[in-house]
Amino acid sequence: MKKIIITLAATAALLCGALASKHVFAELENPGGTGALSSLRGDTRLEETRPADPFKKIPKEQQLESSFVYQPPLIPHAVRHYEVSLNANKCLSCHSWKNADAMNATKVSVTHYMDRDEAVLADMSPRRYFCLQCHVPQTDAKPLVENDFERVQALK
Ligand code: HEC
Ligand code: HEC
Repeated sequence: MKKIIITLAATAALLCGALASKHVFAELENPGGTGALSSLRGDTRLEETRPADPFKKIPKEQQLESSFVYQPPLIPHAVRHYEVSLNANKCLSCHSWKNADAMNATKVSVTHYMDRDEAVLADMSPRRYFCLQCHVPQTDAKPLVENDFERVQALK
């Protein structure tokens, strides 16, 4: 009987120790506490990875207007599965000067051939290679922050 009590006490002590050290570690790794973080995308605890939002609905064909002068035009078509990587640039298979006529697509403008000193190159400038850095498809998303943005007068 004594043995059982000692074993039980030892196990309890070990468990307490483990729990306490876990607590200490949690505090050490998260000096600001482990409480939920509130962001525009909702509440998430630091330790948790919340599931990604569902894909937004992107219209297949849509005419889009500009909001300011020199805006990279919004993409009026779906771009899901269009690869833009080291090996391939799907966008250029339609929008490059070589292919645009045959594909009936808008040519990338001459600015896409300029380096940062505005010298015109013989091929697309590497800084314009990743199209989606500047051009984005549009969706009917609610603004995350309330704002009173208006299009510039010249475009109204
Ligand atoms: C299969 C051919 C094709 C591919 C691939 C393609 N596009 Fe297009 N894109 C078009 C056509 C055709 C238009 C003309 C507008 C329309 O869709 O009616 C267009 C229009 C656009 C416009 C609007 C141009 C303007 O003057 O308003 C942008 C921006 C654009 N595409 C960007 C892209 C980007 C970025 C990619 C790659 C992620 C891409 N496109 C891939 C065919 C294509
Ligand atoms: C660094 C930002 C940036 C990147 C990257 C970029 N563009 Fe653009 N794009 C613009 C801007 C700004 C405009 C509008 C002004 C202009 O024509 O330069 C534009 C205009 C266009 C237009 C309309 C041209 C016209 O004559 O109306 C097309 C089509 C286009 N881009 C396609 C692409 C494609 C395809 C890629 C990738 C291969 C790409 N862009 C990469 C900024 C960018």
